[in-house]
Parts: sequence; structure tokens; C-alpha cells
Amino acid sequence: MADLVIDPSPGLSGELTPPGDKSISHRAVMFAAIAEGRTEITGFLPGEDTLNTAKAVRMLGITVAESGPGALTVEGRGLNGLSEPSGVLDLGNSGTGMRLLAGLLAGQDFFSVLTGDQYLAKRPMGRIVEPLRSMGAVIEGRSGGKYAPLAIRGAGKNVKPLSFLSPIASAQVKSAVILCGLYADGVTTVTEPHKSRDHTERMLRFFGAAVKEDGLQVSVRGRQTLTARGTVEIPADISSAAFFMVAACTVPGSDIVIRNVGVNPTRTGIIDVLVSMGADISLLSPREQAGEPVADVRIRYRRLHAAAVRGDLIPRSIDEIPVIAVAAATASGTTLIKDAAELRVKESDRIATIAAELRKMGAAVRELPDGLEITGRERLNGAPCESHGDHRIAMSLAVAGLAATGQTAVRDAEWIETSFPGFEHMLRQSAY
Ligand code: S3P
Repeated sequence: MADLVIDPSPGLSGELTPPGDKSISHRAVMFAAIAEGRTEITGFLPGEDTLNTAKAVRMLGITVAESGPGALTVEGRGLNGLSEPSGVLDLGNSGTGMRLLAGLLAGQDFFSVLTGDQYLAKRPMGRIVEPLRSMGAVIEGRSGGKYAPLAIRGAGKNVKPLSFLSPIASAQVKSAVILCGLYADGVTTVTEPHKSRDHTERMLRFFGAAVKEDGLQVSVRGRQTLTARGTVEIPADISSAAFFMVAACTVPGSDIVIRNVGVNPTRTGIIDVLVSMGADISLLSPREQAGEPVADVRIRYRRLHAAAVRGDLIPRSIDEIPVIAVAAATASGTTLIKDAAELRVKESDRIATIAAELRKMGAAVRELPDGLEITGRERLNGAPCESHGDHRIAMSLAVAGLAATGQTAVRDAEWIETSFPGFEHMLRQSAY
């Protein structure tokens, strides 16, 4: 796929189930590897990012077999069952893959090297390298350890517990420190400025570990045993569902149901933002799967109005800000997005890239150092635009195209494969 060509949609309809949650998929295969016994994983995201993580876990000596579409069987070997990889672990485009694995590898008594693609090589790694070094790991990387590739000599039996005050609300940083902390003799604590997604905490508990949470503080005692508990059922990714939620909110006449969506409260900022913009969204049949809340989500078209998106809402909707910008560009009034400087160090500088691309479609967007100011108009103009090598920018622009006049062509749309294989097919099924 090179260009993704989108024509205006007459309205979205029907039911759909997006692929498995990316954050939970990474964690499921990593944590199952260090649990004792066999874990079946269903709903595993077959995207490039998570497949790279599964491959890296295999290179650490763990048997990971594909037992069907989205189904993996992992033969966990316990906390000390990983072995030194003979080659470099390549995490491709994935920040989560690299940062979480770095945390896990910092606790081993062997040497490993992590690398990724040209985009991952530009993303900040100092945020995990520094705390992991103070836990005893020896880590080298470009620019003194600020950037990948990273070479890690794990601290093994000498991992020191850490009380870490994280300057940013980042689940990747929190998880890297906690994973290394599993190998320490003592209690490791991470305190964040705002609460980030808590999939690591939930999944460690699912595998039988004790994890203490106290407000913005998470603590874990090292050297606990993780035990396989049968099947981890991964829900559909709310970050992928978000594209369809916004599409249904912006294309008149739409009425869709998205099945089996993970609605963990640390991830549902997208729903709260859209509801604050006047959206008609209902959560049906709430239930729980492997320690994660799940529901079906119904969205019916209603014209949106502007809202303010800032503070605690930002970490709860961080990956959805590009598509929230699309919603804002067609809503009445001026939407202000603040406190989101982290967007500048994602797969692309998402503040700059979404602003530049939405302007091509006629949107009034002002870039702020830590956010965006967007004044909506009834209809955007279809236009040729670019993904900037960023899956979520590509999908956001496709959604913008559905509600625009004329045709939109998103260049380099193949990046969508990192997180949402089958996106184009699912979009064509529900939007035309
Ligand atoms: C993720 C955490 C977030 C998010 C990313 C996935 C995770 O990143 O943007 O897509 O799975 O832990 P940060 O932790 O860097 O905010």
C-alpha cells in the first residue's frame, strides 16, 4: 500500500471489532515469558510492532508459537528463564517494545543490544536509561545513552531497588522501571506527575504478583514469582477504535457499534473528550477480561462543538490527540489542546505533523509549544497529504477525508500496519 485514497462517506454503519490492544499485546508476550508455565494469548495484535516484540522474546530463548489468527502460546520459563540473545533485537518502529524490553533486560545477567528503525532512533531513551543505570545496569547508546541502539549489560543479581520520581507521565518509563524492579532485592517505587495507563500493574496482578498502588505511586517488591494463569484474552484497542468513533461523530447519518473495546479508565480519555464535545456515545454490556474492563461502544452522529483538552485528560488520550484534532477541525468553535508536549516525541512530532496536514485540508490550526488551537469548520476539503511515517497520522487523515468534500489521498499509508492491520478494509466496510 502506498496511497490510501478516501472519498467522502455517506455515513458509517454496522458493527466492527478492531484488532487487539497494542499496549496489552506487548505486555502479554513479555510477561508470559517470565511467568512460570504456559500462557495462551488470544486477540494478540498481529501488527508489525507487536510481532517484533514476539520475535525479540523468541530470541531470548522463549518458545512463542502461533496457534491461530491472533493466538499465541508462550512457554514461560520464570523470572530467570531468559537467555542471552545471539543477535541484535530489532523493535522496528515501537517505543513500547524498546522501552519495556530495556527494563526487562536491565535485570538480566547477560548482554543484549536493542535497535529500531530511523524513527525510533530519534526518540528519547535517556528517560529509561537513567533510572535503569541507577538500578545497576550498564547501558550505552548514541549520544551517551540518549538514543538507540542501546547496548545493555544487565545488573543480574545486583539490581538495586529504586524510588523513582518520574518527570513525565509515561507508562513506558513506569513499566521499564517496574520490570527491572522485579529483579531487585527490595521494593521499587515509581511516582508520576499524572496517572499513565496501568496495563503493567493489572497484568502483573493477573500473573499473581503483588503490586501496590497509592495515588500516583506504584510499588513492586522484587523476586516475586509470576505464574501462568491459562489464557490472556486481549480486548480490541481503544486507540484503534478511536478512528471509528471520530469518523461516526463527524460523518452525518452514522450509527456504529464497536465490539469488545478495552475501556480501562486510564485509556478512555477519547470517550470523555468526545462526550464533552457533545457526542452521542454509549457503553454497552460492560465486562472484564484478564483484569481489564471491556465494553461494546455505540456511537451515533451528532454535530460536535469545541472543548478544552488538557491536564489529567492528556495522558488518558495521548495517542488519540491527532484524531481529536480531526474532530475539532469539523466541530463548531475553537478547541484548545494543552499540556501535550509529549506529542512532539511520538512516532512523529504529532503537533507539527497533524497541524501541517490538517491545514492542507483547509483547517484553521495554530501550533502551540505543548498543543494545538483548532477552529472548526463545517466541512474540510479533501487533499493529498502525508503520513510522515506515522500510523496514527495516516489513519487520522483518512478519517478527516471521510467527512471532507472531494478526494483525500494519504501518502505512505503502509505505516498503518504497525498498529492496525486491516484498517482500510474495515473502514471501507463501515463507511461506504
Ligand atoms: C504506551 C504508552 C504511551 C503511548 C504508547 C503506548 C504503553 O507512551 O503513547 O503508544 O504501551 O505503555 P508513553 O509511555 O511514552 O507516554
